[in-house]
Amino acid sequence: MSVDYQSLNSQLAALLANEQDALANSANFVALLYAGIPDINWLGIYVLRDQELVLGPFQGLAACVRIPLGQGACGTAAQRNETLRVDNVNEFAGHIVCDPASKSEIVVPLSIHGELIGVLDIDSPKPSRFSACDQLGVELLCKTFVQNLQKGPGNFI
Ligand code: SME
Repeated sequence: MSVDYQSLNSQLAALLANEQDALANSANFVALLYAGIPDINWLGIYVLRDQELVLGPFQGLAACVRIPLGQGACGTAAQRNETLRVDNVNEFAGHIVCDPASKSEIVVPLSIHGELIGVLDIDSPKPSRFSACDQLGVELLCKTFVQNLQKGPGNFI
């Protein structure tokens, strides 16, 4: 089933528009996406703190809390500061298993003016769940999320 990412993005923009609190907006961001993207079993944010990714708001099973840069799918995408799609997590060297049901994964960096602040990680129980279209759609949602973060005071989460 394909996702109407434009519609989801409009819903996201409306959801975040009148709130400045980064933690509240992050929690709503992951909840909206988890409900709106089919065939996924985990979706959440890892925040960059002192050169390490630390678990933030998420939906799904409890997950590993700290991921060093360069490790796993998340740490690899973060180090490269570019989106990573993994069609088969079992074939990705260094993949970190949190939910054994996960078969494919997409990790999108969250950046402000090119500077990494974290990543969005989405897991699916289906192999090759995430297409190039999904990548563009999820990147659009992440852009809207980060733009809203910038309007509020203080640090990200
Ligand atoms: N699989 C990720 C770890 C995070 S969990 O999937 C929630 C990775 O390899 O970085």
